[in-house]
Amino acid sequence: MTDQAFVTLATNDSYAKGAMVLAKSLRDHKTSRKLVVLIGPHISEASRAVLYKMYDEVRLVDLLDSGDSANLALMKRPDLGVTFTKLHCWTLTHYSKCVFMDADTLVLANVDELFDREELSAAPDPGWPDCFNSGVFVFRPSIDTYSKLLQYCTEHGSFDGGDQGVLNGFFCGWATEDIGKHLPFIYNMSSIAIYTYLPAFKEYGSNAKVVHFLGKTKPWSYTYDPKKKTVKGNVAEASTHPTFLLEWWSLYSSCVVPMLHHEHGDQPFDYGCSSCEEEVLQAPPPTLPIPPTLSSAERKQRWEQGQADYLGTDAFDNIEKKLAAFLK
Ligand code: UDP
Ligand code: GLC
Ligand code: MN
Repeated sequence: MTDQAFVTLATNDSYAKGAMVLAKSLRDHKTSRKLVVLIGPHISEASRAVLYKMYDEVRLVDLLDSGDSANLALMKRPDLGVTFTKLHCWTLTHYSKCVFMDADTLVLANVDELFDREELSAAPDPGWPDCFNSGVFVFRPSIDTYSKLLQYCTEHGSFDGGDQGVLNGFFCGWATEDIGKHLPFIYNMSSIAIYTYLPAFKEYGSNAKVVHFLGKTKPWSYTYDPKKKTVKGNVAEASTHPTFLLEWWSLYSSCVVPMLHHEHGDQPFDYGCSSCEEEVLQAPPPTLPIPPTLSSAERKQRWEQGQADYLGTDAFDNIEKKLAAFLK
């Protein structure tokens, strides 16, 4: 299967860490496909050297940026204009079919069956399920499609300022035309779903094949204690399940850190994160306490930001009790 590949993108050393863990997870689950990483010019020599060891192909690409600060501000992600760079994946025409995966995804099982799907197959976005999430998608490299996509960007821009807006505009038949192009959510399980639909996560979460650390806080935003096997971070911002975070950190610390260390030697390098708060997420069981002193207005604001305390105050049981009392 040398003409099919998994493809990811890293424009800086932080996302490169994600790309390294993703490659390790794909190899651990014995993919038979090639691995390709697109890198931007700002990736350090050391990160490149590690990527060269882990990927079959490392391709340097120009940065493409939407420059659309207004729409990016709506997503509260001013950093995502550069995700237009993802569109370069259509230029990989020495492959007949590829699966793009964000650098913040982690493979939990072999997913080579994705290559049975056609362009453009993707899973629903948890925020607006009639849009697909562009963190995992099946595509066919083609210069013709690439040119048309760039033309689409020029003429229509992106409604979210990132690649997902462009791709949903371009492949606009996705929602209704062919159910075969709807990947099951387990191929792109955004960690955010744990907070928006906890009962479904409890029922189906163990079937997940790919977890996507979607959102501002990434696994590499935390720090890890390999001896205690705990992850430290800003609990209030946590948007994932501790088990997946620990899985990511376990691969990162056991495989990626030694490789990075080999390249950096004694040179200083930020292997973890510097600005994490001293709270500890331990798994299992998952507990993400939100301080009980929050005012009702603050809790409402957290709800609206997708940070409901589903395992505490806002637990299903508590909501059910409140509804029952209200209906009485
Ligand atoms: N990306 C990158 N550099 C950046 C931002 C994003 O290389 O500065 C790439 C990376 O592959 C990342 C993808 O674009 O996974 C999409 O961005 P992100 O995952 O942060 O978006 P989210 O899934 O959180 O919406
Ligand atoms: C999303 C996707 C990500 C994409 C970003 C910008 O939420 O997860 O892959 O790059 O939006 O469009
Ligand atoms: Mn992502």
